[in-house]
Amino acid sequence: MSRTGRVVAIDGTVVSPDRAVVSVFDRGFLYGDAVFEVFRTYGGAPFALDEHLARLRSSAERVFIPLPVDETTLRREVEAALAAAGNDESYIRVIVTRGTGPLSLDPATAGSPLRVVIVDPVAPPPREAYVHGVALASVRARRAVDDTAAAGAKVSNYLASLLALREAKARGAAEALVVDSAGHVVEGATSNVFVVAGGRVATPPPSAGILVGITRAHVLLAAAGLGISTDERTVPLGELYASDEVFITSSIRELLPVVRVDDRTIGGGVPGPVSRALHRRFRDDVGMVGRPMPYD
Ligand SMILES: Cc1ncc(COP(=O)(O)O)c(C=O)c1O
Repeated sequence: MSRTGRVVAIDGTVVSPDRAVVSVFDRGFLYGDAVFEVFRTYGGAPFALDEHLARLRSSAERVFIPLPVDETTLRREVEAALAAAGNDESYIRVIVTRGTGPLSLDPATAGSPLRVVIVDPVAPPPREAYVHGVALASVRARRAVDDTAAAGAKVSNYLASLLALREAKARGAAEALVVDSAGHVVEGATSNVFVVAGGRVATPPPSAGILVGITRAHVLLAAAGLGISTDERTVPLGELYASDEVFITSSIRELLPVVRVDDRTIGGGVPGPVSRALHRRFRDDVGMVGRPMPYD
């Protein structure tokens, strides 16, 4: 197989990307009835693979999709796809759908779960986004699993987040800031949100209805390593507007400074020192010691 940088494996078999097709009767297609993970490599090795596979398992359990293979097999399939892709650094998406079945909503009618691994060259935001920071636009949104027993599962139905992102972009922002009906910050469309005030870092807790980000966890560890106090607590939108610094985190964007939210400038309108220090520490912790930062 040629090295295009993009590799797809379906049920453990590597297929050429233009032949990577699944049935229209797959429930991932019909209902978004699937769970997934997105992560990247550093130095060619998948970062926090155990944590991502554990979250995949937890998401699958919450929506009662039995994982078709064990984590060792999934790990091997991810590593084989990475080797076939031959990228310097890769983006990896692992999807598990409930499988195909008759045109019935009833999950009991589904056949066997289907698994897909997609590897692509990683494409982080441009340098300018890190140099100058980005804008967020607040959007009231409720997601597919909010207020259900599956809250916190990373399910493939991202329609509410997608519409929130569309609205944010129409308002000139790079990312949506999802706010709940009480006016409390939840997270981004595909990121977690942090505020910094008086040198302390705060981020909404899991009970706020967030997807508990793996980057979020590593940034909290980076803060502990730097002796910076952190709180997982409710963050009202008004408090976020008035904070010294705001940043978002995700596996692909790492830690991206936010300098504007709606019509408010955050702090001095430039990426702040705490955001920069945490990002530097995060990069060191993932093995990028001494390498240029995305804003260099
Ligand atoms: C809704 C949501 N929150 C947070 C995140 C960040 O999670 P992670 O840091 O594990 O990539 C994502 C990532 O896609 C997401 O979709």
